[in-house]
Amino acid sequence: MHANDDYLAFSTIFEELTGIQLNAYKRSQMERRLRSLSVKHKMPDMIAFGQALKERPNLLRECKEKMTINVTSFFRNADRWEMFVQLLQSHYDQHNQPLRVWSSACSSGEEAYTVAMLCKTNNLRLENQRMFASDLDESIVTKAKRGVYSFQTSPAFDQQLQSQYVCKKSDGFHVTDDLKKMVSFSIIDLIHDEYPQQMDVIICRNVCIYFTEETKHVIFKKLSSALRQGGLLFVGSTEQIFHPHTYGLTAVAPFFYKKSV
Ligand SMILES: C[S@@+](CC[C@H](N)C(=O)[O-])C[C@H]1O[C@@H](n2cnc3c(N)ncnc32)[C@H](O)[C@@H]1O
Repeated sequence: MHANDDYLAFSTIFEELTGIQLNAYKRSQMERRLRSLSVKHKMPDMIAFGQALKERPNLLRECKEKMTINVTSFFRNADRWEMFVQLLQSHYDQHNQPLRVWSSACSSGEEAYTVAMLCKTNNLRLENQRMFASDLDESIVTKAKRGVYSFQTSPAFDQQLQSQYVCKKSDGFHVTDDLKKMVSFSIIDLIHDEYPQQMDVIICRNVCIYFTEETKHVIFKKLSSALRQGGLLFVGSTEQIFHPHTYGLTAVAPFFYKKSV
């Protein structure tokens, strides 16, 4: 318990306005970010900050962006994608049917487009030629659908793939229409919403680090039940699952789990 809990009062207002429950996220990280934003906008305290959000849509947007932390890139953690393809290929060979793939906190879409490119170049067929990708944040999903990125793409995004899947224009890199067609974007809140089911692969990276232990537990359970038998879960570098069997998962490589029961 915190003595003078203006953060809790702020959280209530924030949830009313956005549907996002801050208490599902690690308090220390969120509070630090939100207090620094409050200081930047010269708010006397967090309650005044919350009230200001009701009247200032731009401030509300900035606040949402600050707490959802949208950092991402094409081929983020380049070395992991080799193992991803290897495991996916072996799952595909075993099941011999088009894959159901979901990038579950996809931010501005680079992760989903990375997966789509890898499936295409490795002849891994997707069900209905498309994969799923989602995020909680509506404005970031709009950006993902647009598929236009700054010129500083990740160094791991090799030139040959770039020449196939992006066009350089005056305002940035545009993902080709063919690649865009391979990804179906939507809004899904990992805490409250239902998940797409019977997935062969779920990529859930660099989002669970922000959640409390209780929230993570709920999410790992939901992720596991969204996977088919033998399906793969790919997590972020700091998101190791300590007791995977609790969720019917088995570790098959660093950052990869298989649905075992
Ligand atoms: C750091 S980005 C990770 C993007 C990508 N997965 C990667 O690893 O590069 C975290 C993303 O999680 C999203 N997010 C935060 N809370 C979420 C929730 N409850 N449900 C779904 N997405 C959430 C944020 O909006 C943000 O885009």
